Amino acid sequence: MRPVHLGVVGLGRMGRYHASNIAGRLPGLRLAGVADTDAQLAREVAAELETGAHTSLESLLAVPDLEAVVIASPTPYHVSMIEETAAAGKHVFCEKPIALDVAATQRAVAAADAAGVKLQIGFHRRFDPDWAEAKRRIAQGDLGDVLLFRTSLRDKQVPPLEFLTTSGGLFQDVTVHDLDTARWLVGEVTEVSSVGAAIADPRIADLDDVDHAIVTLRFASGAIGVIDNSRAAGYGYECSTEVVGSRAAIRIGNHRRAHCEWLTPGASSVDWVVDFRERYPHAYMAELEAFAACISSDTATEPSGADGLAALVLAQACEESLRMKHVVRVVAPNGG
Ligand SMILES: NC(=O)c1ccc[n+]([C@@H]2O[C@H](COP(=O)([O-])OP(=O)(O)OC[C@H]3O[C@@H](n4cnc5c(N)ncnc54)[C@H](O)[C@@H]3O)[C@@H](O)[C@H]2O)c1
Repeated sequence: MRPVHLGVVGLGRMGRYHASNIAGRLPGLRLAGVADTDAQLAREVAAELETGAHTSLESLLAVPDLEAVVIASPTPYHVSMIEETAAAGKHVFCEKPIALDVAATQRAVAAADAAGVKLQIGFHRRFDPDWAEAKRRIAQGDLGDVLLFRTSLRDKQVPPLEFLTTSGGLFQDVTVHDLDTARWLVGEVTEVSSVGAAIADPRIADLDDVDHAIVTLRFASGAIGVIDNSRAAGYGYECSTEVVGSRAAIRIGNHRRAHCEWLTPGASSVDWVVDFRERYPHAYMAELEAFAACISSDTATEPSGADGLAALVLAQACEESLRMKHVVRVVAPNGG
């Protein structure tokens, strides 16, 4: 298969990681250029990855042979960048969330549709081998009726303040991953209820945000679920899930870098990952490979713009539940 030529815009925590995956680890992809408003950063990343440096999306879009753009800029820029990229006839891989409001998200999805370009959203967990296996077993009925969903997503430490100010808050930034996983594994969610607290970092309270939250879910199928999130679980990064069915349950943990156990008198220990990049090296590569394969074979992307929209609607329902202190009923935007 011929390689697909991708550019990356936004070279912070996520964009730099995507760019180096494309440049060094994925034979079906070529890095056609990188862009960041920080010119020095763009030059540094471009030099390291032997590609062209740009300081705007506009300049990146003018690169000959460019077929698609990975958007990893701060969330408030996503919609205009999707629109600009789609208008240039290039496919889009956009980091989550697409936007922080529903109308803007719908506009971005419509722009990609109207231009006839692919749009894939960065819900990477769908590409992790453990979650993919869970999905496969649930879909083929191995669990029987799904009764209970439980997931935890905890970051080791609070991200930088500049990131927090544009992140959209805990539910839209963090819980949105779990809400996508819930929909993907169990089906549409019809009701959410949430509690939250800003107890780990006073800067988060100042932003009128929370750093810990618990969300309960009711699915259209009748199953129920619970999500817990932390921005400051000092022991490490945790992303674990259980799905309990009438015949079997599946449990996903795996937080180790290596699979050896350290034994000392009276105690044993194992190591533990510190962040999402350590936990998901395969998923972040696989999501881009899948995106490139959809471009090459002209097939539909997954997770799609509609999945991004559905997860955002749920995240906003969690926010409303927190603020209003009541259960929020949700109508899936896709009619699901
Ligand atoms: N899928 C995941 O697991 C995951 C993890 C972290 C972040 N994210 C998402 O990725 C996106 C970026 O997050 P991050 O943590 O990498 O942010 P970051 O703050 O580390 O990096 C953002 C970069 O974008 C650059 N930038 C800002 N405005 C720009 C513009 N107009 N044009 C070009 N570059 C611009 C900044 O200079 C910076 O280098 C966010 O939407 C976030 O929600 C996803």
